[in-house]
Order: sequence, then C-alpha cells, then structure tokens
Amino acid sequence: MASSTQTKAGVFVTGTDTGVGKTVVAAGLVRGFRMMGMDVGVMKPIAAGCYRSPRADGGFELRSEDADWLVEAAQTGDGLELVCPVRFELPLAPLTAARLAAHQVSIEQILRAYETLHERHEFLVVEGVGGLMAPIRQDYFVADMIKDMKLPAVVVARPGLGTLNHTILTVKYAKSRGISVLGIIVNHAEQQDRSQAAETNVPILEECCGIPVLQVVPHATRLKDPNLCLEACRKILGKD
Ligand SMILES: Nc1ncnc2c1ncn2[C@@H]1O[C@H](COP(=O)(O)OP(=O)(O)OP(=O)(O)O)[C@@H](O)[C@H]1O
Ligand SMILES: [Mg+2]
Repeated sequence: MASSTQTKAGVFVTGTDTGVGKTVVAAGLVRGFRMMGMDVGVMKPIAAGCYRSPRADGGFELRSEDADWLVEAAQTGDGLELVCPVRFELPLAPLTAARLAAHQVSIEQILRAYETLHERHEFLVVEGVGGLMAPIRQDYFVADMIKDMKLPAVVVARPGLGTLNHTILTVKYAKSRGISVLGIIVNHAEQQDRSQAAETNVPILEECCGIPVLQVVPHATRLKDPNLCLEACRKILGKD
C-alpha cells in the first residue's frame, strides 16, 4: 500500500479545501482506531484562527479548537507544544499569518514534535491545514510536510458538484509528488447532499483517481460517535 519512502505508521488527513471536515474525520478515525485497540497519537502541526486561553499569570496562550478535538478523541495527555506546535490567532493561510506576525514557521520544530509523538505512539493521525498547496513558507507547502513526515494520506472531499475537479486535482498532484494516497473520504459536512452530482460522484472519483473511496460519511448529529469513520479505519488497516 505505502511506497518504500513512506514508512511511518499513521495517516495524514488532508482535504480538497478548508472546511471540508478534516477535523471531524481525523477525530473519527482516531476514535475508530482506538476502538480497534490501537494506541493513537494526534497532531495538528499548524493551526490558524486560534483562540486566547487565559493563563494563571494574567497572560494568555493560543489554543486550537482543532487540536482540542483531536486530543479529546485520542485522550493521550500529550502537551499542546507537541500536538500543535505552531499556532496563529489570525484565520489565514500559514504563510500569510506568519508574515503578519513577523515570524517564519519552523519546519524543524514541527518535525521534532512529530518524531517525539511517533516514538510515544503506535500510530499517528495528523490533520493538515487547508489543502495540499496551502503555503507554509514561500517554498514549502502542505504537500512538502506530508513528504517530510513520510506518511500516507487520505483526502477528505465534499460530496457534490465541484468535488470531481477538486479531488482529482488533489489526488493527481499528491501522486505526482510521490505521496501515497490510501483513499478518499467523502464527507457531508454542510448537510446531507442529495443532489444528482452527489449521488453519482463516488464511482467517478474512484475511476478517475485510481484509488478507493474509503467511506462516505453522512451529515451526522453525533460527531463523536466512535463508529463514525470505522469503515474507513478498517480499510486503512486492510481489515475489510
Ligand atoms: N459529517 C459531518 N456531519 C455534520 N457536521 C459536520 C460533518 N463534518 C464536518 N462537519 C461540520 O462542518 C464544519 C467543518 O468541519 P471541520 O472543522 O472538520 O473542517 P476542516 O476541514 O477541519 O476545517 P479547517 O480547514 O478549518 O481545519 C464544522 O462545523 C463541523 O462540525
Ligand atoms: Mg480542521
């Protein structure tokens, strides 16, 4: 399944865009893997749009809602500096947020935290930021981070009209970079999409991308249900 350059035990959850459901799916995968008896660590290497959490000394620290979700799913007790080492308050792409904060994202810091988490856990679920070409530094994109982490990816995609273009672009670009893509997870984030496009997209995605749709996740009210992404978990582990 994974190429020889991709040896790490884990999965990188990317998406066709921001807001497609990467966090919900990543946390769903974590809960599913844990239900299967695995020790799973989590990481959201870079988060933007963070909130201020008051500290005892009167100051504050920036925290990420995405990281909170992942940590709650994993129940690992790993500190925020490892789980989410780079945090920005502005809800912008990492390169833009970093520029406005007169800062440059340290890839080394992210990869150090990643290696530490890898040593601690059997398997890691890492949530990306935006899509594959979200810029982190002028010459470093999310796709480069996936390569450096040596993880296979899953692509979270919208169900309806437009997703063929976005998903095929994402999968083909990932493959062109030598990233192993395990499959696509179609997620009904906004509502249950019952359009003709949504009803017909899954086989076309599989045909044009040459990889399976691991699961179609419905628009759900119980997002913390451990069964939410279980079908995808089984397929990722080759147990289906
Ligand atoms: N299957 C689902 N059922 C119901 N609501 C969902 C589902 N998936 C996602 N959502 C909702 O859609 C919104 C976007 O989801 P989410 O935050 O997971 O996207 P994301 O891709 O992680 O976004 P970002 O790029 O900001 O990290 C959230 O409000 C989330 O609760
Ligand atoms: Mg998210």
